[in-house]
Amino acid sequence: MNTKTARRQILNLTDKYVKNFLKQPKYEKGNRIPYAGRVFDCEEVKNLINASLDFWLTSGRYTDELEKELAKFLNVKHCGFVNSGSSANLLAFMALTSPLLKERAVKRGDEVITVAAAFPTTVTPIIQYGAVPVFVDISVPEYNIDVNMLQKALTKKTKAVMIAHTLGNPFNLNKVKSFCKKNNLWLIEDNCDSLGGKYKIDGKWQYTGTIGDIGTSSFYPAHHMTTGEGGAVYTNNSLLHKILISLRDWGRDCCCPPGKDNTCGHRFNGQFGLLPKGYDHKYVYSHFGYNLKATDLQAAIGCAQIKKLKNFVQARRENWKYLYDSLKNLSDDLILPKEEKDAQGSWFGFIIAVKKNSKVTRDNVVKHLEKNNIQTRMLFAGNIIKHPCFDSMRKNKKDYKIIGNLENTDYAMNNSFWVGVYPGMTKEMLNFIADKIKEPFKK
Ligand SMILES: Cc1ncc(COP(=O)(O)O)c(C=O)c1O
Repeated sequence: MNTKTARRQILNLTDKYVKNFLKQPKYEKGNRIPYAGRVFDCEEVKNLINASLDFWLTSGRYTDELEKELAKFLNVKHCGFVNSGSSANLLAFMALTSPLLKERAVKRGDEVITVAAAFPTTVTPIIQYGAVPVFVDISVPEYNIDVNMLQKALTKKTKAVMIAHTLGNPFNLNKVKSFCKKNNLWLIEDNCDSLGGKYKIDGKWQYTGTIGDIGTSSFYPAHHMTTGEGGAVYTNNSLLHKILISLRDWGRDCCCPPGKDNTCGHRFNGQFGLLPKGYDHKYVYSHFGYNLKATDLQAAIGCAQIKKLKNFVQARRENWKYLYDSLKNLSDDLILPKEEKDAQGSWFGFIIAVKKNSKVTRDNVVKHLEKNNIQTRMLFAGNIIKHPCFDSMRKNKKDYKIIGNLENTDYAMNNSFWVGVYPGMTKEMLNFIADKIKEPFKK
C-alpha cells in the first residue's frame, strides 16, 4: 500500500464514521436549544484528518487556501488567519500603532471612539496599549453606535473608531465611514459577529468588515463559520496587511512562510536598525509582536466551512425573520431588533428588549426560557464600564472618557437578552422559542 491509498482508506472510513457516529443529534421536544452550535458534515472532519496526516502542525497549505478563499468571499485584497477573534482585534488595533504609519500612528494618550455595549476584547487592546477609549451611546433597537454622538466625541486627540456590528446588524457605515474620512481617522470594523453582513455604500453592496480600514472575524464554534478557535484580519491596504502579519508573526520584518527561507533573495544583505550589515533577515524585528498564528488543523476545518458560508448566512437571516414574524404582535411589551437602513444583517442572534412599562421584566422572561431549556445570552458586557476590570480605572477618569450618560447602553444592559438563530435550528425549535417568549406576557 502507498501513502495515497492509505490516506484514501482512512478518509473513506472517516466518511463512514461521521455519517454513523458523529451525526448532529435530531432535535426532540424538551431538548436543550443552544444559542449557537457548529454545523458541519464529513468534509470538515475529513479535512481535519487530512491535515493531521500531513502533520505539518503550524500554518501551511490549508492556511494559504483559507486566507485566499476568505479574501475572495469578502472581495478584499488581503487576509490573515489568526488564532481567535480577540487576537484579530488585538492585531487590528496594534497595527494602527505601527511607526510605519508615521503621523497617522495611534500613540499612547490618543483617543479611540468606541461603545460600552461591547464584547470586551473590542475595547481591551485600546486600554492595554494606553490609548483612551471614548465611550458613546448606542441606539435601540439597533444596538449599534449612535452616530449622532460621533461629532461630540471628536477631539484633537481622536485617531480611530473601533466598533463591532452588534449581533450581526451592520452599524451605519455610511455615516461612520464619512465621519472617519472627513476627520482622517482609522476605522476598525469588529466583524466577529457579522461575517456575511452587507452594507450599501455609494449604491453598491459590500461586505461588512471590508469598508473600514481593517475588519476582524472570529471562528469560535458559536460564530458564522468555525475553525474551533480561530479568527481573521482583513484589509485592502497593503501597508496595514504587512504590519498585521509582522505583528502576528513575532514582529519580524521577514515575510517568508513557516519552513521557508530567503524567498526574497536578500536574506543576508540588508541593513536594518543598528544591526551589523547582512544580519539574518529572518531575525530582524520591525515591531514588538506576538505569535498569534493558528494551525493548519484549524484552517483545514475552515476550508470546508467557508464553502457553506453563503448558506449559513442565508439560514441565519431566515431564522431571524421567522422569529421576528412570530413575535411582532407583542409590540406592547417587547422591542424587537431592527436592521439599519441600507444594511443586510448576518444575524448572530435575535435580541429582544422588554419595554419599561411592561409588567414582566427581562429577568422573568430569561428565567422562564432557561427553565424550558432554551439557552439565552446577554448583550455581552452590557455596559463594559460597570465591570470589575474597570474598578481601578474608575478612580482615574483620564484613562477613558464617556460622552453623555450612556442611557441606551444601560437600558440594553438591564432589559435585553438574546436567543440563537444559528443554521442548525429548525422551525420546531424556533416555534418553541417564540411560544416560550410569549408565555410570561399572557399571565
Ligand atoms: C463582537 C466580538 N468581538 C470579538 C469576539 C472575540 O472572538 P473570540 O472568542 O474568537 O476571541 C467576540 C466573541 O464572541 C465578539 O462577539
